[in-house]
Amino acid sequence: MAKKILVTGGTGYIGSHTVVELQQAGYETVIIDNLSNSNIGVLDGIEAITGSRPVFVEGDCTDIGTLRRLFEENRGINGIINFAASKAVGESVEKPLMYYRNNLNTLMNLLELMPEYGVEGIVFSSSCTVYGEPDINPIDETAPIKTATSPYGNTKQISEEIITDFINSGAPVRSIILRYFNPVGAHPSSLIGELPRGVPNNLVPYLTQTAAGIRKELTVFGDNYDTPDGSCIRDYIDVVDLAKAHVMAMERMLGENSGGKIEIFNLGTGRGVSVLELISAFEKATGVKVPYRIGERRAGDIEKIWADPAKANSELGWKAEVQVEETMRNAWAWQCRCMKNQD
Ligand code: NAD
Ligand code: UD1
Repeated sequence: MAKKILVTGGTGYIGSHTVVELQQAGYETVIIDNLSNSNIGVLDGIEAITGSRPVFVEGDCTDIGTLRRLFEENRGINGIINFAASKAVGESVEKPLMYYRNNLNTLMNLLELMPEYGVEGIVFSSSCTVYGEPDINPIDETAPIKTATSPYGNTKQISEEIITDFINSGAPVRSIILRYFNPVGAHPSSLIGELPRGVPNNLVPYLTQTAAGIRKELTVFGDNYDTPDGSCIRDYIDVVDLAKAHVMAMERMLGENSGGKIEIFNLGTGRGVSVLELISAFEKATGVKVPYRIGERRAGDIEKIWADPAKANSELGWKAEVQVEETMRNAWAWQCRCMKNQD
């Protein structure tokens, strides 16, 4: 019988791509999302790609009654992937309580109900932000956790601790914590992708909107860092590759050979790419020029960080495969599709 997975935040950016991969791998999916940062139309995209529509519950995970009803009405959920969270770093500085309440209550409600409804395991979306500015790159999972630089980052650190403490208390559940590097791109079908609200803060949506003429120019935040071309370095991971890692994590967590009660994996390519290199890769892949200027450094930016993904490669059997040019082509195709839909 197909295993049933609850995907919180499943109409969001990474969640929607993961639901597609789960369904294509033969899992049944149930989504809960309060649509605070996504829209219901995403379900049409998922259905168009996979041929089946996930069960969808519109609801808020901070409300334990809503979650309880969901588990009552959808018996036999084997595993959870918890994407539901607020994720804008700047906003978290302005509204810290909202971030702590949303991100932590969501997680705690899910953990509390898991033993009661016989849910075996939870995959949690963490971030490379827990490493702060690394002492060495590439960075592996044994590197120290640094003091968080924002309430958002702190919710990820605290969430990792909550999961660890809960499992160490003897709770009959397992967890795989995934630390994402920089997820970018869109599904190659252009039927789902990232839907930033307002002016994007992140590089790739800003870049594609600039290439599309929605923004006048892209500002490169600093070219005087200690990197080969002076701009910051990140590990940009294709969102479909990232989604596939969740399927592998779920298989491992629910399988016979799970690697223990709690495991942590970095999800990145292992390759550092600078802001200027990413702009070049986009231009090369699409033939579209991106107007940009060099600006001031952005406060709080990390100079360089990229993953050592060896543990995910060997233990999960997962490897990032999509090349950055292809990711940029998909991001551009998605941008073009979004504009066409607005016409
Ligand atoms: P997203 O905002 O696109 O998706 C999150 C979804 O959760 C949205 O659809 C939103 O409506 C929903 N949601 C939020 N709070 C909810 C609640 N209380 N109840 C029900 N639904 C709720 O974000 P994303 O980029 O897909 O990120 C998914 C997860 O991955 C988040 O936990 C995020 O912190 C983490 N993450 C993201 C990145 C990134 O760069 N995108 C990097 C590292 C970690
Ligand atoms: C973001 C999040 C971080 C999260 C990480 C992983 C912020 C501040 N931080 O960080 O919490 O863990 O993603 O997904 O949002 N850049 C420009 N011009 C722009 C936008 C960005 O030059 O207009 C540069 C930045 O300086 C950075 C790189 O592009 O060097 C990537 O920026 P961004 O997409 O915001 O991601 P992170 O800073 O890595």
